[in-house]
Amino acid sequence: MKDDIQEILFSEEVLTKRVKELASKISEDYKGKDLVVVGILKGSVIFASELIKNISVKCEIDFMAVSSYGSSTETSGVVRILKDLDHSIEGKDILIVEDIVDTGVTLSYLLKYLKARRANSIKIVTLLNKPARRKAEVEVKYTGFEVPDAFIVGYGIDYAENYRNLPFIGVLKPEVYEK
Ligand code: IMP
Ligand code: MG
Repeated sequence: MKDDIQEILFSEEVLTKRVKELASKISEDYKGKDLVVVGILKGSVIFASELIKNISVKCEIDFMAVSSYGSSTETSGVVRILKDLDHSIEGKDILIVEDIVDTGVTLSYLLKYLKARRANSIKIVTLLNKPARRKAEVEVKYTGFEVPDAFIVGYGIDYAENYRNLPFIGVLKPEVYEK
């Protein structure tokens, strides 16, 4: 598996440190609020669980699943809700946890979709941001790292459902998805 990685961008140690920084900022900002952390499956699972563990204010946890990439490396632009929230978010302060914001299509759709539910606030935290490929503007409140326009895997992020279990973030060798 590691042979398919061209370059390690963020080691496990670097990721852990940054996630703790984000969690302490979030804990400050959400003091006294009605926080619901919403992880977007499956890419955000590792990030979301590390983040939640380090959030020190009271919060609920929920998940959504949306379709974005199939087994190719390009988004179709079509977003489908595969799993919706379990609970009402009316009056609550929602923090969406995403693995990577690329074109922005998925999140801008999701924001529009959730806006009708009368949450008190909806913000986004993403581990990675790839601004070079943005097509739809989305306001991201917290970002772990900016990444170059390359195909990224690891720490929850996949290529064709593989590589999610790598403990670091790396760039996939192009020959892996070009063959
Ligand atoms: P967007 O709608 O183009 O912003 O796509 C967001 C989703 O596409 C992310 O949640 C990821 O699941 C996936 N994605 C975007 N870039 C990459 C990448 O470099 N590697 C793996 N998945 C990616
Ligand atoms: Mg995703």
